[in-house]
Amino acid sequence: MDPAQTYDLLRSLTTPVVAITSVRNEKRNGMITDGAIRASIVPEVPRLAVQIHKWHLTHELVSETGRFAAHLLHRGQLDVVTKLGFASGRERDKLADIPHHLGASGCPILDDCYAWFDCTVVNRMDAGTSTWFLGQAMDVGRGSGEAVLAPAYLREALPEGYRALYGSQLAAAQERARQLAWLFRPST
Ligand SMILES: Cc1cc2nc3c(=O)[nH]c(=O)nc-3n(C[C@H](O)[C@H](O)[C@H](O)COP(=O)(O)O)c2cc1C
Repeated sequence: MDPAQTYDLLRSLTTPVVAITSVRNEKRNGMITDGAIRASIVPEVPRLAVQIHKWHLTHELVSETGRFAAHLLHRGQLDVVTKLGFASGRERDKLADIPHHLGASGCPILDDCYAWFDCTVVNRMDAGTSTWFLGQAMDVGRGSGEAVLAPAYLREALPEGYRALYGSQLAAAQERARQLAWLFRPST
């Protein structure tokens, strides 16, 4: 199948839009992913896996500290996506005007969100372009909102300027990822 069509199909496998926060020493940061999934069916062992590209500041912070907090967002939080998902924390303090407090792990917990999971990394998988971090939720909270923010809804609701930016940043990330993708090859 044509790679573009294949990617469109893969897009149907994306998960709700999630804000991941992390901290190292005094540096607090946040990013957006739509690659975060439930990774346990045992209610007493709540686990989730998040996929983070290797070039992001968040990757550096989570790799080094073994801690992150994942937040399901609600539909009223497009501004959180535009603040965290379009520029790196290497450029500015993205959490400066997003109300938050520190969780038990030390990671920032957004005051407003649908739900949050304060996690310790219990395993990780090198996926070439990214790392999958398996997190165990040590503390969980339910915020507000009726519906979680889904990528398809986000793409429709994003202001026009951000929609174009999303497209160009995705293309740039795909180009960067292309160079790392073949770190692992099928054996046959
Ligand atoms: C809707 C949306 C989905 C995204 N999904 C991912 C993803 O699955 N994995 C990833 O590593 N980055 C993803 N990003 C990009 C990062 O959130 C973005 O590059 C961010 O600025 C990285 O921040 P950092 O360098 O401060 O960690 C997504 C961004 C948006 C807006």
